[in-house]
Amino acid sequence: MSSEEKIECQITVQPQGWQYQMGFSSTILESALMSGIKLPSSCRNGTCRACLCKLVSGNVRYTIDWPGLSMEEKQEGWILPCVAVPLESLTLEVPLAMLLFEN
Ligand code: FES
Repeated sequence: MSSEEKIECQITVQPQGWQYQMGFSSTILESALMSGIKLPSSCRNGTCRACLCKLVSGNVRYTIDWPGLSMEEKQEGWILPCVAVPLESLTLEVPLAMLLFEN
């Protein structure tokens, strides 16, 4: 999230219950990192699917035309956070998420 980006929505990461706020222009992966949460990732361009996770609630848009998801996966709520930008507050299921810094 850039320093000019206005905070617009809240992201909740389950099952940990971690929360962070972000605007509507960064990807979920980028903003999580800026908030000290490391989500699984590799390519960061929507092809490898390392970041694949379940969207429990909310809606996203994609920064690329063809993210590496089937229509069925999209309908089941799977998203790719490296190329997904929130349209509203979200809850994600990411059991492998880690904190970058311990409190
Ligand atoms: S990190 Fe490769 S698809 Fe998201």
